[in-house]
Amino acid sequence: MKSFSIAVLAGDGIGPEITREAIKVLELIEERNDVKFELLPAAFGACAYFEFGDAFPQSTIDICDRADAILKGPIGLNHEDSKRIPIDKQPERGALLPLRRRYNTYANFRPVSLPKDLAHFSPLKPEVIGEGIDLVMVRELVGGLYFGEKIAGVNEAGLRYVKESLEYDENQIQQILHQAFKLASKRKKVLHNIHKSNVLKSSVLWNEVLGEVAVDYPEVEVIHILVDAAATLLCLNPTQFDVMVMENMFGDILSDQGGGILGSLGLMPSACLGDEKAYYEPSHGSAPDIAGKNIANPYSMIGSVAMMLENSFAMEEEAKNVWTAMQGVFADGYSTADLSKPGSGVQMIGTDEFGDKVVEKLRAMPVVS
Ligand code: IPM
Ligand code: MG
Repeated sequence: MKSFSIAVLAGDGIGPEITREAIKVLELIEERNDVKFELLPAAFGACAYFEFGDAFPQSTIDICDRADAILKGPIGLNHEDSKRIPIDKQPERGALLPLRRRYNTYANFRPVSLPKDLAHFSPLKPEVIGEGIDLVMVRELVGGLYFGEKIAGVNEAGLRYVKESLEYDENQIQQILHQAFKLASKRKKVLHNIHKSNVLKSSVLWNEVLGEVAVDYPEVEVIHILVDAAATLLCLNPTQFDVMVMENMFGDILSDQGGGILGSLGLMPSACLGDEKAYYEPSHGSAPDIAGKNIANPYSMIGSVAMMLENSFAMEEEAKNVWTAMQGVFADGYSTADLSKPGSGVQMIGTDEFGDKVVEKLRAMPVVS
């Protein structure tokens, strides 16, 4: 029997409740397959700061170091509560970025997917959605403004001043572009390169390196789009995109827009892959305003499990089954509050019921081994 250990970092806000549903799915996968998952829960985020004085405590680092993969819930507090934690210890800077850096998870895959029959979830018109939205944003995750040098202080004129650098070297750019080209090559063989080379020198280097990497993938057509134009096109004509690649900050912003065109950030799972280790997380925040109310959508967390099955455990068929099971729950006319507004014809169910229905659907599907 195969056995994998998974560090489970439930995080803050809605993290614990959506993680609970993801674990139900993992348990069923164990039942259906010749596989054992050793779940290693560990504190991460604001909850860890309040318990241990550190949002990414050593005990959690040790667990993550030895785990085969990491399943991570959203972290963070609302604007006011964040002030209870010193700036550099806040969960985003004190835990998430160190996690990304520690495991060099440079390749972040964010699928933005809405089948045609779920077009009613989207704020876009059905004619814009056409046959459905199905694209993947590939975001560089350990470089750029997020990790560049930061200086804050008072300048010579006596004014408070800040400087943050957008840094990349050619190796960092190359490695993410290879990932994007490989994915494009497996899909529709079109890669949209998102950049801002009319202003940023970082984009000029990025595009130069892209030209070199592209030689290895003659089958892939490259289309260059400025990031601001890409934001518009995502609304006007999202179905023209298949694989989009971009640097860290552009990816942060456009991937939330991806959630917007689907109708909910709750539909945004992600995989963060390094060469040695991978972790999986929803693309969205911890939504403290709805935490503990059993109304959050666990799709992003269960989808992150599907991405883990595929990328870390080579269980592609079960991964597909998990996606199909989740789509099946929607197709039956159920969803959590984010996607079941009054008059939408969608029946509202709780976080736990959504998880139960996914489990029920998956249980009914044959196992392909
Ligand atoms: C994301 C999130 C993080 C990011 C935050 C929580 C630091 O918004 O994964 O998109 O900006 O990368
Ligand atoms: Mg973000």
